[in-house]
Amino acid sequence: MSFIDLPLPMPRRGAYGPQRFWKEYSMNVQTVGIVGAGQMGNGIAHVFAVAGYNVLLNDISQDSLDAAVALIAKNLDRQVQREKLTAQERDEALARISTTMTLTDLGPTDMIIEAATERETVKTAIFEDLVPHLKPNTILTSNTSSISITRLASRTDRPEKFMGFHFMNPVPVMQLVELIRGIATDDETYQTCLGVVERLGKTAASAEDFPAFIVNRILMPMINEAVYTLYEGVGNVSSIDSAMKLGTNHPMGPLELADFIGLDTCLAIMNVLHDGLADTKYRPCPLLTKYVEAGWLGRKTSRGFYDYRGEAPVPTR
Ligand code: CAA
Repeated sequence: MSFIDLPLPMPRRGAYGPQRFWKEYSMNVQTVGIVGAGQMGNGIAHVFAVAGYNVLLNDISQDSLDAAVALIAKNLDRQVQREKLTAQERDEALARISTTMTLTDLGPTDMIIEAATERETVKTAIFEDLVPHLKPNTILTSNTSSISITRLASRTDRPEKFMGFHFMNPVPVMQLVELIRGIATDDETYQTCLGVVERLGKTAASAEDFPAFIVNRILMPMINEAVYTLYEGVGNVSSIDSAMKLGTNHPMGPLELADFIGLDTCLAIMNVLHDGLADTKYRPCPLLTKYVEAGWLGRKTSRGFYDYRGEAPVPTR
C-alpha cells in the first residue's frame, strides 16, 4: 500500500476508518479524459495507459496531440529498452490512447484530469465548457501546481466531486502524486483518487488546499532563492547548480530544474504564493521576471538559465 498518510489538520478521511473504500470506488474509473497534451498532459496519458485505463487526450492543437503521441511512443520505447515494459505492454498502452480536438468528446469519461496552461481563467473556461456534457458521476480533477482547488471547484456543478491531482515532472519517472481536497470534496471522491494513484503504481501524499500545496510551497521558494543568489552575484549559474547538486545530492541544480519545469510556471507559482499568503518572503526575483519577459522560459524555448541550442547546455550567466 503506497500511501503516505501525512497528519492532516482536518481528519475527514479518518471519519470513515482505514482505507476500506478506495479500491472498491476506484474500480468505477475505466476511462480517463485528459485536457492538455503538453509536458504534463502527455506524461499523465502515458502512465494511465500503461496502468490499463482507456485515455482520451484533448488539446486545441492537432500538432500538439501528434507531438504528444510521438513523445509517449518514444518514452514507452525507452521503458522497453530498460526492460521496465515488454513490447506487447508498450503496444497495448499506445492502443489505449485516443486523441480529440473537441473538448466535449470527453463527456462520457469517468474521470477528467485538466492539465492545461497554469492560468486560472483558462482552467475555469475549460471546466465551464465541459460541465454540461459530463455524466453525473464523473470526477473532475486538476493537475494545477498551485491554484486553489476550492475556487476551481466552485466554478463547476460538482464541487464535491472535484480534486487536485498533482503529478510531478517527468510523470513516468516521478513517484509522487499530491492529492488535494477542496473544502467541499467528499470522501468517496478522495478514496477513488487514492485507488487510482495506487493502480498507477505511484504514491499519494495528501495536502490541504493552501497556495502551492506542499511540493511547490517548499520547492519554488528554493528555486526563487537560487535566482536571487544569481541576481546578487553570490554565484554564477554553474556554481549555484554544482553547489546544490554536489552539496545536497539533488539530482538537478535549482536553476537547471527551473529550466526543466519552465520559468513561466515557476514565476506563476511564486505569484500565487505571494498573492495568496501576502508575505514578502515569496516575492519573485526580478531576474526571474526578466527571463520570462524575454521569452527565455527554459528547455521548452531552448533558452533559460542555460542555452540549449548547441550540443551541450551553456550557462547564460
Ligand atoms: N519517460 C520515461 N522514462 C524517463 C523519462 C520519461 N520522460 N525521463 C527519464 N526517464 C527514465 C530513464 O529511462 C531512466 O530510467 P532508469 O533509471 O530505469 O535507467 C531514468 O528516468 C533516469 O533518466 P536518465 O538517466 O536519462 O537521466 P537522469 O539520471 O539525469 O535523471 C531525472 C533524469 C529523472 C529527470 C532526474 O534528473 C531528476 O529526478 N530530476 C529532478 C526532477 C524533479 O525534481 N521533478 C519535480 C519537479 S517539480 C514538479 O514537477 C511540480 C510542479 O508543479 C512544478
